[in-house]
Amino acid sequence: MSASASVSGLTPPEIKARKGGTPLVCLTAYTTPVARIADTACDVVLVGDSVGMVLHGLPSTLGVTMEMMILHGQAVRRGTEKALLVIDMPFGSYEESPEQAFRNAARLMRETGAGAVKLEGGETMAQTIAFLTRRGIPVMAHIGLTPQAVNAFGGYKVQGRGEDGARILADAHAVAQAGAFSVVLEKVPDSLARQITQELAIPTIGIGASVDCDGQILVIDDMLGMFTAFRPRFVKRYAELGDTAEAAVAAYAEEVRARSFPGPEHVFADAPRSKDNA
Ligand code: KIV
Repeated sequence: MSASASVSGLTPPEIKARKGGTPLVCLTAYTTPVARIADTACDVVLVGDSVGMVLHGLPSTLGVTMEMMILHGQAVRRGTEKALLVIDMPFGSYEESPEQAFRNAARLMRETGAGAVKLEGGETMAQTIAFLTRRGIPVMAHIGLTPQAVNAFGGYKVQGRGEDGARILADAHAVAQAGAFSVVLEKVPDSLARQITQELAIPTIGIGASVDCDGQILVIDDMLGMFTAFRPRFVKRYAELGDTAEAAVAAYAEEVRARSFPGPEHVFADAPRSKDNA
């Protein structure tokens, strides 16, 4: 299935132009109803490959496929009107060569209607980012803790502490120089995120980075309290929907067992009443 490639909502140049302005509000979404909610208040809605862990119960993002991203991307497209829709390139879909990255990025955009792709990596991905951006594919970069490299990092560890900061700073400059329109900084020290934000001409979007970034992003299920397998320190819970849902399921179970649900208002008479709809 092919999505319409219409440019609706904010565009990558408009997001880039927000450098140093009102902070960019970004959230992930994976389904149409949640995208509709995120779209009411966000500048960027990201179909993150976190979908693998959050909705599919995978142990990491490494098992996420192009097909999963396309399916969720199409669903999110249907619920996104105002925000820029960005879609993650899954592990193994872009690292091999710029050509492979172009093929898969073009497919993601063509089949979902996303306005940009996001990919993980700094200096090593700069050539690929330049290849894509020169061919009309806007790229949001992602540096610092890049979850697809969790095995190489030996865990979800803070990146860029002490002397290692120079590596992350070089990554930031490399992706900006290559043409990325913005860059996600994940789990890097506050002072380093601030320095990168000051030095780059493109917006930085922090997750576990700094309040001084040009924007912030969170996984929506984390901030709504729906994903409870683990909770990184950088997550702030703005609601406890998981608890609310569990209480609702428990109340339903109790009423079914007590035969108090369904009530008279939920069942149908033999002869139609005026308010019956079936
Ligand atoms: O996959 C994802 O959801 C992400 C964001 C958390 C930045 O990459």
